[in-house]
Amino acid sequence: MNRIVVGLQWGDEGKAKIVDILAEQADVNVRFQGGANAGHTVVIDNKKYVFHLIPTGMLYPEKPGVVAGGMVVDLPTLVKEAKDLEAEGLTIFNRLFLSDRAHLVMKYHKLLDEYEDERKGIGTTKRGIGPAYADKISRKGIRLIDFKHKEIFTELVKEHLREKNELFEKVYGKPPLSLEEVLEPYENIRELTTPLITNTAILLEKFQEENKNILFEGAQGTLLDIDWGTYPFVTSSNSSICGIPGAIGTGLRVINKSIGIMKAYTTRVGNGPFPTELFGETCDLIRGTGNNIGDEFGATTGRPRRCGWLDLVALRHTVRVNDIDKLAITKLDVLDKMDKIMVCVNYKYKGEVLHDFPAAEYILKECEPVYQTYNGWLSSTKGIKKHEQLPKDAQKYIKMIENELGKPVYFVSTGPGREDCIFME
Ligand code: GDP
Ligand code: IMO
Ligand code: MG
Repeated sequence: MNRIVVGLQWGDEGKAKIVDILAEQADVNVRFQGGANAGHTVVIDNKKYVFHLIPTGMLYPEKPGVVAGGMVVDLPTLVKEAKDLEAEGLTIFNRLFLSDRAHLVMKYHKLLDEYEDERKGIGTTKRGIGPAYADKISRKGIRLIDFKHKEIFTELVKEHLREKNELFEKVYGKPPLSLEEVLEPYENIRELTTPLITNTAILLEKFQEENKNILFEGAQGTLLDIDWGTYPFVTSSNSSICGIPGAIGTGLRVINKSIGIMKAYTTRVGNGPFPTELFGETCDLIRGTGNNIGDEFGATTGRPRRCGWLDLVALRHTVRVNDIDKLAITKLDVLDKMDKIMVCVNYKYKGEVLHDFPAAEYILKECEPVYQTYNGWLSSTKGIKKHEQLPKDAQKYIKMIENELGKPVYFVSTGPGREDCIFME
């Protein structure tokens, strides 16, 4: 059984929490798109692990992990992440496979990301994601296979750096980079990483032939997908299920189950339209601070997340895009202190009711949510493991989501810990 875990909102839905639970039954864990813009948090026995490039399921010892071809990889960052995990007692380098087709995120991509974002105001993570994918599409990228061949790698970096330095100086008025400072981070990691670079499609085909269970871990969320998200306020990859075939290279039939992760409310980091966004006290109550329940601060950048009510218009759209089989609702406990809970069922745009998620951000930002109000449960659901132990109003809230989205809820997460989870019948 091959499963994909995808985010149904603007990222940070708690995908890693669900991946961690599903990875117990998986034999192989795969990240397929994005890069170190992802921040995936798992909490085990009160200890927090945050993954950026390495598949979260590698927390289980011995299971192989694959960084597939659709990713953009900041290789020195990946090595640091792997070493940090090894310092925790896990072995990583002996079971990690890196696609020879994946593209490298170079230092100049990260700088370009920063300079471009000053102009465009997308509010990116500054991890070089957009510029690395732009170079891939413009046929100016450097792939892991190129890194494997040292002379070719050096020549490619030289060639691309020349162009980037022109941009830095002439367009952005910034200082150029030297070849040495771009190459330096790669010197000490060559020996460690080149043996991991391989054709991961062949590897995944072999795992499929052996009937291994493969778990695909989406990063970001479908509303950040380059094609189906709130363009241009999106990331630069297909962060929905649409990313799979191009990234994996074993055809279309690789996924058996598509599991969509959604928070019981909505959050977003970075800029762009967010119809159900809240401000003031209600937002603060959801966001929380420090160890307070919401803890809505970016796992990669530490930025406060924007918070708002659940948006069923957006979710109907993302459930369709991903052909979702089952839903997982996370962070139910964060709503424990809410007296009333609002849910957006439609939008109003220029006096008309919109049922479908609009394609244009300039329309979406003018949409007003049409809300239905539900009673809060005003009691703690933190750590509850059985559906029947949930307050009746929390049960009603879950049922409403199932009815509205027409998909069964498989997990309800009631806290950050691995054990804080209800498995629905
Ligand atoms: P991801 O990017 O989708 O993997 O999500 P992040 O790790 O960026 O953010 C989710 C945050 O919510 C993390 O801090 C998790 O530890 C936390 N979390 C996940 N599920 C729950 C839950 O049910 N309740 C609470 N209170 N926190 C949760
Ligand atoms: P995970 O996997 C939330 C957002 C950024 C910005 C936009 C573009 O942890 O859910 P980028 O750096 O990708 O070019 O930024 O996308 N973004 C995320 N938001 N969670 C993420 O990842 C994100 N990765 C990118 O904030 O709005
Ligand atoms: Mg995250």
